[in-house]
This record gives sequence, C-alpha cells and structure tokens, in this order.
Amino acid sequence: MRTVPAPPPSLADPAVARDPYPLYRTLRDTHPLLQDERFGAWLLSRYADVRAALSDPRLVAPPPGRTFAHLEEATHAEHRALVSPALQGRALAALKAGVERTAYVLARRLTRRQEADLVTEFCDWLPAAAVVAALGLPYEDTARVTDWCRTGLTHLGGAPTGLDAFLRPHVARRRAHPRGDLLSVLCTARADGRPLSDEAVTGLVANLLGAGGEATDRALAALLANLLDHPAQLALVRARPALADAAWAESLRRDPAVHIVLRRALAPVAVSGGTIPAGATVACLVGSAGRDPDRFADPDRYDLFRAAPGQLAFGVGRHRCLGVQLARLTAGSGLHALLEALPRMTWAPGFRPDPEGLLTRSPRSLLVRLH
Ligand code: HEM
Repeated sequence: MRTVPAPPPSLADPAVARDPYPLYRTLRDTHPLLQDERFGAWLLSRYADVRAALSDPRLVAPPPGRTFAHLEEATHAEHRALVSPALQGRALAALKAGVERTAYVLARRLTRRQEADLVTEFCDWLPAAAVVAALGLPYEDTARVTDWCRTGLTHLGGAPTGLDAFLRPHVARRRAHPRGDLLSVLCTARADGRPLSDEAVTGLVANLLGAGGEATDRALAALLANLLDHPAQLALVRARPALADAAWAESLRRDPAVHIVLRRALAPVAVSGGTIPAGATVACLVGSAGRDPDRFADPDRYDLFRAAPGQLAFGVGRHRCLGVQLARLTAGSGLHALLEALPRMTWAPGFRPDPEGLLTRSPRSLLVRLH
C-alpha cells in the first residue's frame, strides 16, 4: 500500500495559531527556508536568518500598506528623523509622570476587587493612554482612541473612520500654536520644504496608534503572564524594581507581541537552506527566532537573569521600532503600579493564560485573584 506523503508544514494549519512553537521547532531543524504555499510566504525561522533579513535592504515592506515601513526610502528617513526625537530623551522624560499617574489610577481602581482581568481592565488601556499622552491629545479622549486602536487600526496603517474628524481641530490648533508634543512636531514638520498635509498627519497618527497601542498592550499582557507564571521571579522584581527592565526584555524574547514581520524580496537573497527568489513574500518569524536554541540556551525557559537577551521583538536596522523607549516606560510604569497596588496578586483559581494570534500574539485574558 502506498502511503500518502504528509503535507509540508504550514503557518495556515489551524493548530499553529493555538501553539506555533512545535512548527517553529520543525522549521528551524529541518526547513530553515520553506515556501509555505498555503500561507503565501517563504518562512525564515532561525535567529541568524531572521536578524539578517530584518535589516537587509533587499527585503522591503510588502504591499498593500501605508505604514512608516512602506514610505519611499528618502521620505522614510525624513519621517523617522521627525518622529524619533519626540519619543525619546527629554520628550520622553516629560511623559513619564503622566504615564505613571495613569498606571497608578488604573491599578488603584482594582484594589477593592477580589478578581480582575488584567487584559481588559489594564493592558487594553495603559498603552493607548501613553500614546495619547505622547501625541498631546486630551486624556479624556483615551477611551475613543482606545476603540480605534482595537477596531480600526492594523499594522497595514491607514486611518479609521472618525479619526480624521476627531484630529482636525487639534491639528488646526497645533498649526497655529505649536506645543512640545508629538502632534505639534508633525503639524510643524516640513517635508521637501512644505508642511505635511492634514491627511499625512492623520496617517502618521494612525500609524503611531496602531503600532504603539496594540503591540504594547500585547507585550504587557505577555510580561504579566510570564511573571505570574514564575512567582519566585515576580517576588524578585517586587523586591528589586530595577529588575523590571530585564523581566521585560526576557518576556519580549520568549513571547514577543509581533510574531511575524512580512517583507517582499526585491532581489534573490541567500539564507540558510537556499535562496529566496526575487518577488517572494517573506515571513520573518520573530517568535521562532526568540526560541532558537543555537542563540539562546534552554530557550523555552523564562529567566530574567539571562545574559545578553538580544531579542528581535522590535526589529533591527533602519526599520527598528521607534517606540522602544515609550513601550519600555509604559510596561515599567504598569508593572510597578500593579505590584505596588496589588501586593498579593496571583492567578485566579484554575486559570491558565491562553495566548492567541498568529501575526501578533498574547493572552487575551489574564484572570487574577487580588487578595
Ligand atoms: C512592545 C511594544 C512594541 C512592539 C513589540 C513593537 C514592535 C515593532 C516591530 C516588530 C516593528 C517592525 C520592525 C521592522 O519592520 O523591521 C515596529 C515598527 C514600528 N513601531 Fe513598534 N512596537 C512596539 C511599540 C511601539 C510604540 C509604542 C510606538 C510609537 C508610539 C511604535 C512605533 C513604531 C513605528 C513608527 C514603526 C515603524 C518603523 C519604521 O518602519 O521605520 N511601536 N514595531
């Protein structure tokens, strides 16, 4: 009797969205370059290949899409140069108190409760509030903006209905009376000697909300899940708050928010196991890279004392995430506020976090007992 050959592994298998790690292992071991016809991309899974691909100029953002990454090279560099000072250094330091205050208010609201879901009651709110603060939009509008982050925005970019009408008066005011916030930076910026149009400003804002809100929300949920799963390490972070950065970096390595970054090959590119042909769509499996045993000893283990985490969760090279420091500030403030307000926080009885998602991934519920 002839045996039917097993179909090649694929990201499109429904089991993969539930648990991608067995597939990632197979890919790294036996198919470091695989044309996944069902998913519609060539898969790269080893740390070294993913790292090289993310910074390779022959691999560009695939159409369709209107994100930062899709901008033509000169405009991309110009827009990065505009936005990045407003998300680091003095500008970031000016946001710190507001983000910490929001984290504190959100955490304090939970103190009288027996149980809570940290995703819907904390993680879904704090990152959106942080981006709202960075843009200089009114704090009272965080709920509206959070809704747009959840429903209308994707990593493809593009502005959801309603955002342009909401932004119009703020943009007009910033053009007339600029302040020190990111929206003012965009409203007063000049590209090719001309100010950015209202449409361009709205597109950039939509991009920042999409890139920042959802990714940080998911990464914060993964951080909390990792620490609640490892009470001894949680206790250490509680006792030595300076360890929060290491806990964050290790969580981003083990459970990144963005599991897959897509690219399009402009030319043939040699990688482990073969050559990506020109024109191919490439899936850089960041989630797999973080668990590559050739790069990380015992990679499935969560260990905040891991030396040189070297994770790729924010990308590398000229497209590296512009929100690294804002995300770190948000996660650090969130963790600190929760640990302070809820000193006895543990998983609710019988609860296990259940991460979901293929392109972006995290638990969509974190049920905790608070007393
Ligand atoms: C933990 C939270 C975050 C994660 C995991 C994350 C992850 C990423 C990743 C993987 C990329 C793509 C890199 C590439 O294409 O090579 C990216 C790009 C980007 N991110 Fe983030 N991000 C986070 C938070 C933020 C925040 C808070 C902002 C700003 C408010 C932001 C703004 C951007 C922008 C503007 C880009 C495009 C950069 C470019 O193409 O030049 N991100 N991010």
